[in-house]
Amino acid sequence: MAFKITKAVIPAAGLGTRFLPATKAMPKEMLPVVDKPAIQYVVEEAVAAGLHDVLMIAGRNKTPLENHFDRVGELEAILEEKGDFEKLAKVNFATDLADVHYVRQGAPLGLGHAVLRAKMHVGNEPFAVLLGDDIIDERDVLLTRMLEEQTSRNATIVALLEVDPSLVHLYGVATVEPTESDDVVRITGLVEKPSREDAPSNYAIIGRYVLQPEVFEVLENTAPGKGGEIQLTDALETLAKDPSIAGGVYGVVFRGRRYDTGDRLDYIKAVVQIAVDRPDLGPDLRAWLKTYAASLD
Ligand code: G1P
Repeated sequence: MAFKITKAVIPAAGLGTRFLPATKAMPKEMLPVVDKPAIQYVVEEAVAAGLHDVLMIAGRNKTPLENHFDRVGELEAILEEKGDFEKLAKVNFATDLADVHYVRQGAPLGLGHAVLRAKMHVGNEPFAVLLGDDIIDERDVLLTRMLEEQTSRNATIVALLEVDPSLVHLYGVATVEPTESDDVVRITGLVEKPSREDAPSNYAIIGRYVLQPEVFEVLENTAPGKGGEIQLTDALETLAKDPSIAGGVYGVVFRGRRYDTGDRLDYIKAVVQIAVDRPDLGPDLRAWLKTYAASLD
């Protein structure tokens, strides 16, 4: 029986050490990308794909996340009094966006461990996992395409991006075979963060997954892997090797615009790229960037 997928799980418990001291008292998911916290882009993407039930796997600083997606009476009253309905609409948009739930991860024992914390909330249904470090341009379709493939194949679906071979050590990397669809590959193996020499391909997992509920049992039996952490990639490798468990694993190859906010340099690039495309900021920013770039030599 095909389930209508309604749940998205967003792991947001990383320590964000690459952004210290900004992340000393605030989760890295709250860092602004132009004028919205990174996490809001991800929740908007889930909602745009029809997933209104969002579970965040939070870390020790979960209060700012909760506050962002909740009402803030005092601010609403001030904006209303001033008649600033444009800003009020921005505030309310984040409040009303989704039905957001929270669970704490406790110890940061890896992405697989974070996903396992969703077991009670998700139950026996397929669900999506979205990682906050990757922002997918809202003009490009990815998650909807993955949900379609999950429904038609009744399998696990991950998002793949062809990356430069010098970058494979940053990702889970897949062994792939073609399918009848130009943008879908069958995954026969996965390895977490291989060296360039050991990588089976340059097809890297970007942070979007549509998972079968069987993944929970597999995760419970997955030993710590790379970095001593319970790796989601290792559980998916088990599912890829034995399609009798839950239909195997397929990759939707993404060829659109993706912004990485995971480290400082990529984050700065993401902010600039997104701002350049914004109608309110883009024209002035482009003009300034050209002059600034010319002045650098
Ligand atoms: C995680 C996953 C990795 C995946 C990546 C995508 O790594 O473990 O398999 O390719 O997300 O962003 P992280 O970036 O959290 O180290």
